[in-house]
Amino acid sequence: MAGEKTTTGQQIPGYQIISKLGAGAMAVVFKAKQVSLDRIVAVKILPKKLSESSEYVKMFYKEGKAAAKLNHPNIVQAYDVGEAHGYHYFVMEYVEGHTLFDELDAGKVFTEKDALEVIIQIARALEHSHAQGFVHRDVKPKNIMITTAAQAKLADMGLARATSDAEAAQQEAGKAYGTPYYISPEQIRGEVDIDFRADIYSLGATLYHLVTGRPPFEGDTPAAVMHQHLKSPLIPPDHINTKLTAGLGEVVEVMMAKDRIRRYASTSDLLLDLESIQKGEPPLQARKQIDSELLTELAETGEPADDQARIEERASRLRIIAVILAAALTVSVAVNIILLLR
Ligand SMILES: Nc1ncnc2c1ncn2[C@@H]1O[C@H](COP(=O)(O)OP(=O)(O)OP(=O)(O)O)[C@@H](O)[C@H]1O
Ligand SMILES: [Mg+2]
Repeated sequence: MAGEKTTTGQQIPGYQIISKLGAGAMAVVFKAKQVSLDRIVAVKILPKKLSESSEYVKMFYKEGKAAAKLNHPNIVQAYDVGEAHGYHYFVMEYVEGHTLFDELDAGKVFTEKDALEVIIQIARALEHSHAQGFVHRDVKPKNIMITTAAQAKLADMGLARATSDAEAAQQEAGKAYGTPYYISPEQIRGEVDIDFRADIYSLGATLYHLVTGRPPFEGDTPAAVMHQHLKSPLIPPDHINTKLTAGLGEVVEVMMAKDRIRRYASTSDLLLDLESIQKGEPPLQARKQIDSELLTELAETGEPADDQARIEERASRLRIIAVILAAALTVSVAVNIILLLR
């Protein structure tokens, strides 16, 4: 029996369309059967107008090819790209489950433990793709799927975007939990050398939303939200939900630093911290980062900057470390002198 037709009224050779799974800002996703391998897949069909740009089509195939080389349990596997009747399509692993957006939309606020469970899996997916030079650029609750076996999977890896990241974000005007809630400051500024740190920012914004029940910055228009990503200080998540640990607050603070130099130096460092706080241990990588900034601030101004209590606590920790180091140095010098004199 031939499958149901897509909404384009056409069929894709080799695939039997079964049903519509959903639609996003630009594409429609169908559940289908790949006839040759007799397996269920998801097929994303792009609007025809995108096919008119040869530059976009080139990028679509290039990125699709690269994404197909990624293979990770927490990444929705890319299978195939192609064109039928003027429509370009992207074939991927079919995920039975729902998106994180669905859970947030239903009003769920995650416990720290439950949120970490999901975020750590996605951080592993990103570690894998970042190690191969792949940046997702659109990490957000809608692109994180949870399978019926409670496994988290990052979707849309390798799906080329037709417009700039900031334009794509603008297109979601008025839609709840749209892209502007998770986009990094450098993407808003339209910088060209976007790297893995943009994904770390967006994952931080997603984590923030999971544990506080609201995105990090809200506003009446996408432009207002974006302005806050660029300028407004972040209210620490542990100030909004007091059940959260200070460790989680510190990790989010470093993930969402406005200047990417102040974020994690690698996705592996981020993973170390996420796994530490999951075990109830302090996030040492974030502390190293925050402490080095504090030292810079102290050196530059002689005064710690804002968020006095937090910074003073860290300054006193630094003083203790300095005293211990000085003591160790004194002992080592003394021992050396004694050894030389013998
Ligand atoms: N691999 C998949 N398996 C099963 N369902 C999927 C898969 N990919 C996407 N979907 C479903 O299709 C919907 C539409 O996905 P799509 O990527 O087009 O848009 P989106 O991510 O929801 O939003 P946006 O266009 O803003 O990125 C998703 O919300 C999800 O429910
Ligand atoms: Mg998507």
